[in-house]
Amino acid sequence: MADARPVVFNPLEEGYAEDPWPHFAELRDHDPVHRSVMTNWFLFRHADVLALLRDPSLSVDDANVLVRDEERYQAAREAYGDERSTSMLGRDAPDHTRLRRLVSKAFTPSSIAALEPAIVDLVDGALDEMTERGSGEVVGDLAFPLPFDVISVMLGMPESDAEQVAAWSSAIVKTLDPIITEDEMRAAADASANLRGLLAEVIEWKRANPADDLLTALISAHEDGDHLSPRELRDQVQLLFVAGHETTVNLIGTGIHELLARPDQAALVRDDPALGANAVDELLRFVSPVQFSRRITLRDIEIDGHRIDAGMFVMAALASANHDPARWGPDAEELDVRRRDAGQHVAFGSGSHYCLGASLAKLEARIAIGSFLRRFPAAGVAAEPVWNGRINLRGLDRLEVDLG
Ligand code: HEM
Repeated sequence: MADARPVVFNPLEEGYAEDPWPHFAELRDHDPVHRSVMTNWFLFRHADVLALLRDPSLSVDDANVLVRDEERYQAAREAYGDERSTSMLGRDAPDHTRLRRLVSKAFTPSSIAALEPAIVDLVDGALDEMTERGSGEVVGDLAFPLPFDVISVMLGMPESDAEQVAAWSSAIVKTLDPIITEDEMRAAADASANLRGLLAEVIEWKRANPADDLLTALISAHEDGDHLSPRELRDQVQLLFVAGHETTVNLIGTGIHELLARPDQAALVRDDPALGANAVDELLRFVSPVQFSRRITLRDIEIDGHRIDAGMFVMAALASANHDPARWGPDAEELDVRRRDAGQHVAFGSGSHYCLGASLAKLEARIAIGSFLRRFPAAGVAAEPVWNGRINLRGLDRLEVDLG
């Protein structure tokens, strides 16, 4: 039982972006089922987070939120109009089941495994460029372009203005933060409209130019007479495209940063490639590139003596669950790439919305992180890293390294 006392959870506090972990520890200890001033509920303990994610009676569809800030709701409606996304991340069964089944069909384990040689080539190319230049900025040179290029190649996207698309995508994922300003909301709505427009054009082009790629497979995905409507198709592609790179960048960038700060752990990964997969799971646990996931109550529920009304947002702090000593033991706050049960983390969520790209993200991170450490065994951090300031998709914007 927590030693109860109210704690203010303020992710806008100075220093939070760099180091949210002490905030989570305090909340786990004193106020683990927390009602924030934003009226949302937050869960910080591993057991509560896991139970929430696996509870089939909860919703992920924003339309079910009853208790809301009317002013912000109006601002959101103005910004987004009625064009609600049909992405599977925000849909409940039976739509979710149908959308996920259709997309999974084009996203099989064998098609992910077949990407390994292409990922090795992309990583080697990025490391060659760093070697030639004699300097490196891990995020811009490797962590960002790798997942971006991989998801673009997988989907079979035509060459487009990568910088523009990256800027739109970055504005869109800001909406995943528990707090955003109205300006950020409007910027996200504009970016979303622009990306949707581009994707609609790309899909039309792909219909006329089918190829051996994921987008072609999605266009022709059928099951028992079922299919994706044009809008559903566009929204699943947007989800794959954005989720495909905005998260993995933070696993690779922050993961390398954490290893460079711990030369003993980096040496273990460098010297034993067989440890790579477990090390990636431990980094997923330790850095939690997606820090929060959300659910909406459809009826009144009770958690640890707190009544949560129907229609409320409940945020599951995945990052806090991944550092909960009640689950991981007294060394929960330490990075141990040999941790036996590292793969039990909730960094990819749990239950019916468990990350569809988990094996792809792990493959990319294993190759990128392992190859970087082996190519530059004496690498070290060269300048103070720059954090991206995001509350949910937390990570680094810049990590300059000395290649040794
Ligand atoms: C380190 C990288 C990644 C992390 C930490 C991550 C994390 C997550 C989490 C936590 C969820 C579940 C959200 C919830 O329960 O509400 C999720 C869902 C999802 N992710 Fe990932 N993800 C990563 C990479 C990827 C990649 C590379 C792709 C695709 C190419 C992808 C595609 C998806 C999709 C489609 C869903 C929605 C699944 C559903 O609603 O059924 N993710 N991801």
